[in-house]
Amino acid sequence: MAKKKSPARKATSAKKPALKGVAYRPTPDVIAQANLKSWETVARKANRDLEGFWEAEARELEWYKPWKKVLDSSKAPFYKWFTGSRVNIVHNAVDRHLNTHRKNKLALIWESEDGKEERSYSYYKLNREVSRMASIIKSMGVHKGDRVTIYMGRIPEAVFAMLACAKIGAVHSVVFGGFSVDALQGRIEDSESKLLITCDGSYQNGKRIELKQIADAALERCPSVQNVLVVQRTGHEVSMQPERDHWYHELLETPVAQERFPTEAMDAEDPLFILYTSGSTGRPKAIVHTHGGYMVGTYTTLKYVFDIKEEDRYWCAADPGWITGHSYIVYGPLLNGATSFLYEGGPAFPNPGRWWQLIERYGITILYTAPTAIRGLMRFGDDWPNQYDLSSLRLLGSVGEPINPEAWRWYFNVVGKKRCPIMDTWWQTETGMFMITPTPVVPLKPGSGAKPFFGQVAEILDEAGKPVKDGEEGYLVLTRPWPAMLRGIYGDPDRYVKQYWSTYPGKYMTGDSARRDKDGYYWIIGRVDDVIKVSGHRLGTAEVESALITHPAVAESAAIGLPHELKGQGIHCFVVLRQDAVASDALAEELRQHVAQHMGAIARPEDVRFTDKLPKTRSGKIMRRVLKARAQGLPEGDLSTLED
Ligand code: WTA
Repeated sequence: MAKKKSPARKATSAKKPALKGVAYRPTPDVIAQANLKSWETVARKANRDLEGFWEAEARELEWYKPWKKVLDSSKAPFYKWFTGSRVNIVHNAVDRHLNTHRKNKLALIWESEDGKEERSYSYYKLNREVSRMASIIKSMGVHKGDRVTIYMGRIPEAVFAMLACAKIGAVHSVVFGGFSVDALQGRIEDSESKLLITCDGSYQNGKRIELKQIADAALERCPSVQNVLVVQRTGHEVSMQPERDHWYHELLETPVAQERFPTEAMDAEDPLFILYTSGSTGRPKAIVHTHGGYMVGTYTTLKYVFDIKEEDRYWCAADPGWITGHSYIVYGPLLNGATSFLYEGGPAFPNPGRWWQLIERYGITILYTAPTAIRGLMRFGDDWPNQYDLSSLRLLGSVGEPINPEAWRWYFNVVGKKRCPIMDTWWQTETGMFMITPTPVVPLKPGSGAKPFFGQVAEILDEAGKPVKDGEEGYLVLTRPWPAMLRGIYGDPDRYVKQYWSTYPGKYMTGDSARRDKDGYYWIIGRVDDVIKVSGHRLGTAEVESALITHPAVAESAAIGLPHELKGQGIHCFVVLRQDAVASDALAEELRQHVAQHMGAIARPEDVRFTDKLPKTRSGKIMRRVLKARAQGLPEGDLSTLED
């Protein structure tokens, strides 16, 4: 491509505004390489013509039938995108690449936790795997629109399972493989899944997780599930219920498994998946995403923010069970025809050099992870990353919680060797795609995700809905629709409106507080509701409390999140015991264990304290804010609604 201005001149122009607190300015090198050289030009255009921006992006993908309308706001907040069109995300993530130079390009590379197994899949081979799984699940009577729960470890079959569902028009509901019986059961029951896809077990830090056993326990109370498809991973003995349970590897040997299988033409607004996430109250809610808009949103954001190139080896170290994994391990990279790396294990097993070894071994160019993982690895010192050749890296990413300046600097200096800009991407399960984020040509301030994505507007409001002054904290809201936005809460349209669009009518309430500085950079402060972010994982106080209440000694409980050095936030519980129970250290320990067993290890509370009474409003609502302030020795604020 002919370039009029030299990269060096562009770099000087990027320096023009006197930005305060900038720690990184795009170097001429980075700008010269970037697919998109001027953030401002695209932002200006998209701001003027939101629909035009997204329409142009959508045209880069293939549609069976074009749309009549890009955006239909007639029933807002039930927005619709690309109405009247026919499409399937799998056609764009897999099928379309088979007719291009990407046919034999690697789509997915995987390494096992013990490092003894490595698998790779070209787009051609991926299509075969997805087709085989799609034909098998279809043979089990799964039709368009049916829900399928996927409960697996981080293995390629988890990716195949998601794509196979989407291919036949079934709606996948992935449950994180670190969740336990209650969480799994609640999600299967709510979604009324017909089929469960799981594994015999998975590996985590050298230990075996008994996925099938947990699934069996959950299924005792899930009548909707007719079949269970079991992928063999650990090879240890598990119980198989005749009629209901089927080994995947056995079915692969039968004629049901077909290497070529049609991709279903869907309406752009047909649901692609539901994903449960914790909200301010009650049970986790199922966020709905669609084939058309979600596809365009994840494709576009990944392309611009991580500047995807043919030769990239992109690694998003999240789990497919979270939205980050859905959008940016599976769909976003494949839609871009990229090579995505999937690793089975965690960051520090068998030693804290494991991730750095993988970067060197596979020549990873882009690493996308969470601050909690960075802090966890930072504590082992610089020697670990310094033992490995990390020179392949060109971009870094962060997600899940605000990144503290110390972690930012370590990531930037020691991992990225001061060469790699850090894309601090703010978004949510609900948004489906990055919403506040830099691109590689934007000057960076540690801890800020820079500005809203192209065409987006974020406001920071006070209680009354008035914008606060720059520098002041307020509620973060989004005021323009975007294609990957949630289409609702599965089975609960009222809750969708109430939860997201009612606080400030017509504006999307994020549940976060934030401030904006004078340069227009956004700084996320944290959740303002009862969501706790533990190691970047989103958990609800209500879920922890309902787990506690199932213990015979517990009469009442309250869970809060408090700052934690490594995890960002840790869970702390206050428990009122039943009359016949006696408080003791042993009981506190038992209750921590109880929560972990019911919900999963990530939800294990840091501590459990016993109390005679919980602070409540006169209407009986627990005032977690008071507990939080008290636990941290902070001012307790307005106590006028306190019951006593
Ligand atoms: C938080 C994860 C600061 C935020 C993709 C949001 C962040 C919640 C960032 C959504 C970030 C996510 N900086 N905070 N870069 N990214 N968050 O649904 O509180 O698991 O509301 O989606 O994570 O969590 P969720």
